[in-house]
Amino acid sequence: MKATIIGTGSYIPEYILTNQELSTMVETDDEWIVTRTGISERRIQKSGDVADMAVNAALKALDNAGINSEDIDLIIAATSTPDYLFPNCSSIIQKNTCAINAVCFDISAACSGFIMALSAAKAYIEAGMYKKVLIVCSEKMSGITDWKDRSTCILFGDGAGACVVESSEQEGVKSVDLHNEGMLGEVLTAKRNENIVMNGQEVFKFAVKKVPETINTLLKKENTDAEDIKYFILHQANVRIIESVAKRLGIDMNRFPVNLSRYGNTSSASIPILLDELNRENKLQNEDLLVFAGFGAGLNWGSILVKW
Ligand code: ACO
Repeated sequence: MKATIIGTGSYIPEYILTNQELSTMVETDDEWIVTRTGISERRIQKSGDVADMAVNAALKALDNAGINSEDIDLIIAATSTPDYLFPNCSSIIQKNTCAINAVCFDISAACSGFIMALSAAKAYIEAGMYKKVLIVCSEKMSGITDWKDRSTCILFGDGAGACVVESSEQEGVKSVDLHNEGMLGEVLTAKRNENIVMNGQEVFKFAVKKVPETINTLLKKENTDAEDIKYFILHQANVRIIESVAKRLGIDMNRFPVNLSRYGNTSSASIPILLDELNRENKLQNEDLLVFAGFGAGLNWGSILVKW
């Protein structure tokens, strides 16, 4: 059997932290942040757990897929900001969505969490082990942000994105290309109970080199032309990274949807939040080809080709 995405959902906290407000907290200004990152505002979860955002996104994805929670036989949660060391976030999602028939595990792969989770869902489904997989990526980046460090606190936001992947005759999740380079891990870290420490320029250089590479490898594997791809849905870290990837691939920016101006970098949640927005705005048609690409702490990176 093959794996295909049948529903999406997302949850964005209400509180909007604008660049204007940030400039009262650290020495920065709207123009600097917008010019260097493309971010105008981000959402902050003022109260509640990471799992609460996850459950909200999960319920919307189940509703969008038109299935009941009992139909789910595997829940994969991706988060770098879990509420508990245990139980894992996926078990809390199971409890609060009454997905009584699901097996649950979490993935920790930072900003590439969605890519890793979708590739795992594809593998389990194609192996015949599970038929309906709920993927939920939820991040409270505000909880591990140093609000006194102007070089990082401008970047991140909170939110959750989810999708349901089902076993099907049609090949929806077509091909995967994944990489990891732990030797470079020190450029982006968050130790337990400590905040994010990042060498921004190194992360930038890594992303603009590796993302085009993985996309080219992916397309070559499937003998697919970049021109045939409707949207390249990249991890939303910095608009300059996305512009640079588009330029290196020689593809117009209008095929790289961007929502980071409103949400900042929501780590693993950024791709499924953007996917859900495109889905709900009816921008995705049957058989559209999409490329998802993620990159982040590990360092890790990868891409997935999907037929909608
Ligand atoms: N406001 C005003 N000035 C600032 C700010 C700020 N918020 N932050 C840094 N500066 C200053 C610096 O102190 C420095 O001043 P100096 O020249 O007097 O020393 C100057 O601006 C330039 O700093 P750089 O770090 O060189 O700025 P750069 O152009 O590299 O932009 C940024 C920094 C935005 C972090 C960029 O490197 C970047 O986006 N990197 C990618 C990192 C990323 O996306 N990480 C996300 C997490 S990882 C992930 O999602 C995969």
